[in-house]
Amino acid sequence: MSGAREQFGSRIGFILAAAGSAVGIGNLVGFPVGAAKNGGGAFLLMYAIFVFAICLPVMLAEMSVGRKARKDPLGAYRILGGNSAGWKLAGWLSIVTPFMIAVFYMVITIWILGYLIEVVTGNLDVLANPAMFGEFTQSSSIFAYMAGVVGIVYLILQGGVKEGIEKAAKLLMPSLFFMLLALVIFVLFQDNAMAGVRFYLIPDFSKITAEVINGALSQAFFSLSLGMGIMITYGSYIDNRADVPGSAKLVAITDTAVAFTAGLMILPAIFSFNPQTNPADLSESSVSMIFTFLPKIFLALQASIGYVGASVVAGIFFLLVFFAAITSLVSIFEVPVAALMDEKDINRKPALVVLGILLIILACFGAMSFGISEFFTSFTSYAGANKSFFDIVIDIFYETILPLNGFLICIFVIYRWKKHNFNAALDEGAPNYKGSFFEKYVDMSVGTFIPVILLVIFVNTVAVKYFGVSLFG
Ligand code: PHE
Repeated sequence: MSGAREQFGSRIGFILAAAGSAVGIGNLVGFPVGAAKNGGGAFLLMYAIFVFAICLPVMLAEMSVGRKARKDPLGAYRILGGNSAGWKLAGWLSIVTPFMIAVFYMVITIWILGYLIEVVTGNLDVLANPAMFGEFTQSSSIFAYMAGVVGIVYLILQGGVKEGIEKAAKLLMPSLFFMLLALVIFVLFQDNAMAGVRFYLIPDFSKITAEVINGALSQAFFSLSLGMGIMITYGSYIDNRADVPGSAKLVAITDTAVAFTAGLMILPAIFSFNPQTNPADLSESSVSMIFTFLPKIFLALQASIGYVGASVVAGIFFLLVFFAAITSLVSIFEVPVAALMDEKDINRKPALVVLGILLIILACFGAMSFGISEFFTSFTSYAGANKSFFDIVIDIFYETILPLNGFLICIFVIYRWKKHNFNAALDEGAPNYKGSFFEKYVDMSVGTFIPVILLVIFVNTVAVKYFGVSLFG
């Protein structure tokens, strides 16, 4: 790109954009259900510790590398890595990973838009039929919704950093907070809601196993949008007067607060609208919760507030999830777009078009992995399980490579870019950081136990996913 690098216009714009990336489907549905099933308050406490003790320092590493290099992740690894071939490879990983994650996230966002439109057009009862999700994912209407999602993402990203990403975040994030609070208040006033709150929050330390700890840490890592080059890219759009540690803390707090608050909406809703709920039936997968379980729960509400009332509540819920998904999708797609703009010195619009076409093709393959195409549905099999094209993308990029990317950025800042440069970069714009306890903690952890933990997660995931064995017994 010729000319000055694009920048966020304000600190709050940057924080909202980064929080918009972080707050996603994982916060709204994955976290609450995971917490409820895995020890309630005990899980919550452990999750919060992981967010602040392990993920926040990684976020600082990513943001400061981006801001220092003023480049996309590929350029950042190249410039700060002194052109070494190994670090260039790490740079490639951190742009291919978000591109591939965008593929599957796009498919889920398409479904959410489809469900939102169905609810708004009066079809909540149809969605509540458990067979509907299977039929929906095989119907050709998903291609129309794909066009809708592509159009919205294109409109936001063609506006650039300030007029596109920042403006969208400033509009969508406050709307999201407002809708979430409105739903929480509504749900908490329903009969039997407290049973859900109890189920969600009462600490049960006996549920915490090694597997749960691994799961909580991975969830925290993904939830903060780490390992995808996003915070490197967004960091490259802030200036040296910005307070990186302070902003990162706010992003982590917002992300955790939204995840926690979402639990106060989802679990009481489940128990109140459908008192016969058997906790064992709650699926941990966000996807099956959103698309098969929750529509049924919303429909049960018609007994008290009528069909239209139930549709309004469901509509607000799907709109909320849709906003969360769009800001995440925008952030993740911005990474390869920024890389193409920087590396090939081309403008935003052609970069968007070229990568957009590639994304649409791969997203079609992903969308056709649920029965439309036999080829993509039964793509391959490993570790005794049949895998569709969509499954493979999730397994390889979302589950496996993210912790590896986290490991690499930690090693990179401490041993290649060097600790004193990293510290000096964090001090810039943050006068209170120097000498603080937080600085000492970050300084000590990023080169030592944090990469070790991320490496263990990576190795365990490889063992579980591809060889069917777990390191944790
Ligand atoms: N942080 C997101 C979530 O919790 C994950 C994500 C971010 C996925 C960006 C895609 C893109 O859902």
